[in-house]
Amino acid sequence: MILQNDRFLRACRRQPTDRTPIWLMRQAGRYLPEYRAIREGRGFLEMIKSPELAAELTLQPARLFDLDAAIIVSDILPLLEGMGFHLTYEKGDGPAIHNPVRSPAAVAALRDDPAAETMRYTLDAIRLVKRELNGRIPVIGFSGAPFTLASYAIEGGGSKDYRNTKLLMYREPKAWHALMERLTSQVTDYLVAQIEAGADAVQIFDSWAGALAPNDYAQYVLPYVRRVVAEVRRQASGARDQNLQSSSLNPDPRPPTPVIYFGTGLSGMMAQLRQTEADVLGADWRMNLDDAWAEIGPGFAIQGNLDPMALFAPWDELQRRASDILDRAAGRPGHIFNLGHGILTETPVENVKRLVDFVHQRTAN
Ligand code: CP3
Repeated sequence: MILQNDRFLRACRRQPTDRTPIWLMRQAGRYLPEYRAIREGRGFLEMIKSPELAAELTLQPARLFDLDAAIIVSDILPLLEGMGFHLTYEKGDGPAIHNPVRSPAAVAALRDDPAAETMRYTLDAIRLVKRELNGRIPVIGFSGAPFTLASYAIEGGGSKDYRNTKLLMYREPKAWHALMERLTSQVTDYLVAQIEAGADAVQIFDSWAGALAPNDYAQYVLPYVRRVVAEVRRQASGARDQNLQSSSLNPDPRPPTPVIYFGTGLSGMMAQLRQTEADVLGADWRMNLDDAWAEIGPGFAIQGNLDPMALFAPWDELQRRASDILDRAAGRPGHIFNLGHGILTETPVENVKRLVDFVHQRTAN
């Protein structure tokens, strides 16, 4: 299927675009009245486990705003259910895992149900969204990164200091690595399955990796991110070769699926992130976009990095901040405009619309 709007994918590959592409992390969600109408009277898990509802929620922001990509509506944590974790979303306090792993025995007792089966509802939702969009814009699949998933699996929810996570890492390094190995295979299989279902790009969310010292990131986390990126690239192109029954006579003409690696609080590790070998690196708002890009170097595309709270500012102020980011990107190929983290509840919808249009108008050539 030929995409009518491929500026997001072109930017992921650092090719020139007619305007700077924009999409927003958590672009589907409670700030939209249309989302709340469907959420009303339903559990979050119930909602995302219905491929039809997940597809509809994915399409809502793509209808309301001139976005350059749709991200599939699901969550990073349901993947853990296939490993034996009991997950619920509590009103107001976010996700909870009721049987966290904190010992080598608990890690050894985990299951490894295949992601292609346990996450079938999200794969079906991707197929529905692809059909519905009919090539209008690309679809982004995603997974939590091994570390961020491990932190939920160990803490049982969000955490201020990641005490249990770091204690397992420092006191039981074998169990830590065993857990990361298993998460790495789950994440890899899940991302490959999403690409096979039609995802045009995939994003790995390592939202909490910034809790770590750079040396701990290098030792306990980075090798697994590298493995996910390399394996997804290898297996996804292999899967497509088989689909096309191609051979050396008839190689797959499509370029590889871009992989985006996103984390927050990583400003002390930008140079290290090069070693992930992701195509695109996310930057949060704690550093200037041009400084972040200088540190990661020209061989990467960059995604970011407006403070999500800026969407609550008066339009003049929001516009000034968006312009500053665009000035720092300075028209270099490979910038994808986004927030530095997910959109917040109660974000004014009108400002989202104005921001999306402004980024396009300001960069039109
Ligand atoms: O970006 C999108 O619109 C696609 C869907 C998406 C959701 N979660 C939907 C969601 C994506 C990509 C995520 C990723 C996710 N989920 C991350 C990584 C990104 C980040 O924000 O750091 C994390 C850490 C989670 C875990 C999670 N899920 C939390 C902490 C919460 C509760 C906080 C909150 O904002 O509600 C969720 C719930 C969640 N995930 C909702 C949505 C739309 C809200 C559920 C509801 O309606 O109550």
